[in-house]
Amino acid sequence: MTRTKLIRFGVSIPEDLLKAFDRIVKRKRYTNRSEALRDIIRDQMVHAAAEEDRNIVGTLTMIYDHHVPEVTRKMLELQHKLGAGVLSTLHIHLDHDHCLEVVVLRGRVGLIQPVADQLLSLRGVKHGRFVITAPVD
Ligand code: NI
Repeated sequence: MTRTKLIRFGVSIPEDLLKAFDRIVKRKRYTNRSEALRDIIRDQMVHAAAEEDRNIVGTLTMIYDHHVPEVTRKMLELQHKLGAGVLSTLHIHLDHDHCLEVVVLRGRVGLIQPVADQLLSLRGVKHGRFVITAPVD
């Protein structure tokens, strides 16, 4: 991580809102308000990157029943559509029926999100989630 100068600034905030914030700081085990605020800003930056269709990385986690006809083939076909946008996949045979697959994706949200949605909506996929992130300072 790049070391940059820390700036202190004052924030005016309603008392109730600050109390609510402090509860979050405590619950999420931040060491102080500053650390929590930095994380919130970074999270907003990732959201902004996604909204502006900039490059992001994402992890798609899915649990599916590999006995459902065609699910494995369709899953591969969709991933091949993204080509080099698929950085890595992890596949674990959880039990007799279920597979866990984690796909790491990189590229513009506009390209990646629709494929992630298609994968999650495949028949046989029982649960899943697509988490978008991006390197932010
Ligand atoms: Ni499997």
